[in-house]
Amino acid sequence: MTDLQKEIRKLKEATDALILAHYYQTLDVQDVADVVGDSFEMAKRARDAEESTIVVCGVVFMAESAKILSPQKTVLLPAPDAGCPMADMVEPEDVLALRAKHPHAKVMCYVNSSAAVKAVSDVCCTSSSAVRIARKLDAHEIIFIPDRNLGRYVAEQVPEKKFHFHPGFCPIHDRVTAEQVQKARERYPKAVFAAHPECREEVLVLADFIGSTAEIIGYARKRKEAEIIIGTEIGVLELLQREMPEKKILSVSAGFVCPNMKKTTLQDVYNALATGVHEIHLNHEEIQAARATLDRMISL
Ligand code: 13P
Ligand code: SF4
Repeated sequence: MTDLQKEIRKLKEATDALILAHYYQTLDVQDVADVVGDSFEMAKRARDAEESTIVVCGVVFMAESAKILSPQKTVLLPAPDAGCPMADMVEPEDVLALRAKHPHAKVMCYVNSSAAVKAVSDVCCTSSSAVRIARKLDAHEIIFIPDRNLGRYVAEQVPEKKFHFHPGFCPIHDRVTAEQVQKARERYPKAVFAAHPECREEVLVLADFIGSTAEIIGYARKRKEAEIIIGTEIGVLELLQREMPEKKILSVSAGFVCPNMKKTTLQDVYNALATGVHEIHLNHEEIQAARATLDRMISL
């Protein structure tokens, strides 16, 4: 551990804080966290936190979800301008328009969305819980927002239900092409390929495994192959490569980096703990309305 990392750990104890980090954070930030996880794990740990402060090393929607699930706690986002472009692609008005068009459908909202959008939805989901929740939801028709790729993947797994989609997407995952997968496969014919469901259909049909960041990590840890091609952000690859130096962990495309996830630096985490910047504030009504959708996600 560097001196700064040691300082952060000390300060974390002194301020009664819990540090949550997503797998896309840089490894130095992951290393000071109490919990490193996918969006579902982060939400659950935020809800169950005993500490008075939660520091979220991730993007805005993750910090907002932590605040919604633990409204009495102080929630800090060390990099306050770390947004998620996909979450910004949908507004509450879009959801209301889709509801008017499909009055019998329930709205299932990917956690990568604003608190205001969650507030007008029926249930939230993450990439690891989406299929399970779609199956269990007491509705035959589902409006899935905002990720068209994840929505299409879920619809394929749950053919007994009817889906309507919003055209949102993750600019980082959506730009991977089938051609890139084929090239990687030609170069490493013995490798397995694991992809995140935010990738396009043409990419997912070529995958040996499809799952959330945590599920991809779990899959890669169990594989015997010496080469594993990763179809998600580079943070996952870096974590696995450090853990398994004897294997070749490869990215399906060059520059598979989420710039927003890389905004958090160790200095930002230190500053947040030392000074209490940047606190997440949501109004009471928003918290109440959005909380029901997140609670439903965790319970389903
Ligand atoms: P996970 O829930 O799989 O960690 O995904 C979060 C995310 O933002 C993927 O781009
Ligand atoms: Fe948003 Fe995509 Fe970054 Fe995930 S990888 S936080 S979906 S922009």
